[in-house]
Amino acid sequence: MAWTGRCPDCGEWNTLVESVAPPKATVGKARATASAASGKPVLLRDVVALETARYATGIGEFDRVLGGGVVPGSLVLLGGSPGIGKSTLTGMAMANLQAAGIETLYVSGEESASQVRLRAERLGPAALEVKALAENSLETILATIETEQPKVVVIDSIQTMHSADLTGAPGSVGQVREAAGKLAEIAKRLEVAVILVGHVTKEGSLAGPRVLEHLVDCVLQFEGERERTYRTLRAIKNRFGATSEVGVFEMRSGGLTEVTDPSARFVEEATGALGSVILTSMEGTRPVLVEVQALVSPSELEIPRRVVNGIDRNRLSMILAVLSRHAGIGLGTSDVFVNVVGGVRVDEPGADLAVALAVVSAQKGEPLEGDGGRPLACFGELGLTGDLRFVGHADRRVAEAVKFGLGPVVGPRSGEQIPGLSGCGSVREAVRRALGGSNRQIAA
Ligand code: TYD
Ligand code: MG
Repeated sequence: MAWTGRCPDCGEWNTLVESVAPPKATVGKARATASAASGKPVLLRDVVALETARYATGIGEFDRVLGGGVVPGSLVLLGGSPGIGKSTLTGMAMANLQAAGIETLYVSGEESASQVRLRAERLGPAALEVKALAENSLETILATIETEQPKVVVIDSIQTMHSADLTGAPGSVGQVREAAGKLAEIAKRLEVAVILVGHVTKEGSLAGPRVLEHLVDCVLQFEGERERTYRTLRAIKNRFGATSEVGVFEMRSGGLTEVTDPSARFVEEATGALGSVILTSMEGTRPVLVEVQALVSPSELEIPRRVVNGIDRNRLSMILAVLSRHAGIGLGTSDVFVNVVGGVRVDEPGADLAVALAVVSAQKGEPLEGDGGRPLACFGELGLTGDLRFVGHADRRVAEAVKFGLGPVVGPRSGEQIPGLSGCGSVREAVRRALGGSNRQIAA
């Protein structure tokens, strides 16, 4: 990791060769270490663990994902596709920090100061108290941080930063690394927290920010569909907290609002229509109920369409294969569309059964009803042999559904007694149970 910081010093390694060059430096270093005096290892038991200080951004969901707030001297990478709300989120966080007396600096390499101001106006008066710098020159930015000595700095975005030491264009791997390396150095030295905004497309195709993942302390991914209102903030890496936490936001006219009880929102909006089912999903340590919808229609194409939103496309192919092989539901000549409502992404195997049941309901033309006409809730992983597999936090998933009156929940069999769970051993059994409607309780 150290070489990334070192590498920029030679200034000319701005091609692919530069990734070859560092080992040379390491070899030299290794030789030097061989002759150096040996260090003195300490027993971890005797090391005094420092309580990590944190700056709370005042945005609950953001703080939770960060592990309690921004750690001084840390480097955070906030990735997401353009238009998702990265500038909005960081702008709001800076406004709150500044209002709490923590000096901030918002560096924009994408927008002019007046454009930044326009956004700030939408976010409220506190956002106008943040110091902004519209600048692309890395050297100027570093010098500004030295003189201004802010506590938290936003670099929006890392791809627009340009160092005069390198010939590459902004956004090139060399430039991005150089900028991040220099900012990491100043962050540690001055104990200033730096939030790097990075544009990452859904496929992560933009090489830029990805090369930084090892360098930064924390990688956050802001996800969602630009045209939809819901967005999720996920920690992919976090040296100061858990990576399982997920924050849910909604984009409104006055900025992003936290959705503290996403289940309530999604259940309220659930249609309970044909091809719809409620998934009791886990977003980090928190159970969240989301609606999964499917549409099945005869295909006019030789290779039928498989269109997904919010789940993995290959996962859908697997689920369809299992349905065909083990539940007698053939979809070889149908187009299948699956959508997780609200632009939410569910990346967990526990979502399999919901996708399967939504597809079955759509294919059979039978709505899935839970007790008392409420939407049906389910979860579980599909095995390739048609078995329904147990997934983590089953008790919490079921409890969340029951809380919203959606029991019994169709899911995998559990060794322990889980009240409200209607356990099934196979996908075939789960399909039968789901289509059985009110017979479900008797079957359970
Ligand atoms: P932005 O934060 O600029 O996205 P990013 O920095 O990730 O590219 O804003 C994303 C969108 O959000 C933008 O199209 C306008 C919209 N928006 C609102 O709907 N309400 C608001 O209060 C703000 C500031 C933006
Ligand atoms: Mg932006």
